[in-house]
Amino acid sequence: MKSMSRLEGKCALITGAARGIGLAFAQTYVAEGARVAIADIDIKRAREAAEAIGSAAVAIEMDVTRQDSIDQAVTETVARLGQIDILINNAAIFAAAPIVEITRADYHRAFEVNVAGTLFTLQAVARHMIERGRGGRIINMASQAGRRGEALVAVYCASKAAIISLTQSAGLDLIRHGINVNAIAPGVVDGEHWDGVDAFFARYENKAPGQKKREVGASVPFGRMGVAEDLTGMAVFLASAEAEYIVAQTYNVDGGQWMS
Ligand SMILES: NC(=O)c1ccc[n+]([C@@H]2O[C@H](COP(=O)([O-])OP(=O)(O)OC[C@H]3O[C@@H](n4cnc5c(N)ncnc54)[C@H](O)[C@@H]3O)[C@@H](O)[C@H]2O)c1
Repeated sequence: MKSMSRLEGKCALITGAARGIGLAFAQTYVAEGARVAIADIDIKRAREAAEAIGSAAVAIEMDVTRQDSIDQAVTETVARLGQIDILINNAAIFAAAPIVEITRADYHRAFEVNVAGTLFTLQAVARHMIERGRGGRIINMASQAGRRGEALVAVYCASKAAIISLTQSAGLDLIRHGINVNAIAPGVVDGEHWDGVDAFFARYENKAPGQKKREVGASVPFGRMGVAEDLTGMAVFLASAEAEYIVAQTYNVDGGQWMS
């Protein structure tokens, strides 16, 4: 990993950072000179991740569906790191089912984690940033799934479309406080998340294990599925000084899948 200092002296709270894309963000931010709070509902893996990274990382137990947990995680992060300059709203869950099988419980769970979790974590951190008076950067994780619906993925797609919209509204509201809110829309990124997606399509489309991954990888213009490290450059850039004039945008980092 290339080590530079574009985030020297910065402190970042990254939700869902115990594994996958969030963990890659945490590792890269530390390599760029930041200190990070790895906030996750899976505190065991968050602790393992923080220990592996070293003294620049702390593990924070956080369930983004609970307001008391959000407030506690922000308070604890500020207590342990001193401040929050950057928030990455990365925690999310996947949900998939044919329209006729979607349950209210699945809908509420996905919207609680993906949408309410993002909004109210953003709110709590924005309050801290406004009080501190030094602005900040907030990066939300959208998806190509938020750009276009998919037959079997209605609830997850709708939740990610909501992230793009929330990024626009929050971006417009918070820039007067010097807080830039933007989003990243990945395409298909291999990892444990996609292990679950692959298993779902194996069940619903009668595919062999691994077949859906091979198919989506082959359909990406770049020629393969993404990996978490494909996203880290954009996450550093949006948090860096060079991105100061970028407000309320969602960037596709997807090997050419979506153009907008
Ligand atoms: N992997 C992809 O193909 C892909 C594509 C587009 C967008 N994304 C988005 O990127 C982000 C990261 O994806 P990933 O593939 O690394 O996912 P992942 O499932 O591997 O990791 C998600 C993390 O969030 C945590 N989490 C879940 N519920 C939580 C809660 N209530 N509170 C706190 N933490 C919670 C999990 O424990 C896990 O560590 C997500 O927002 C996802 O929607 C992923």
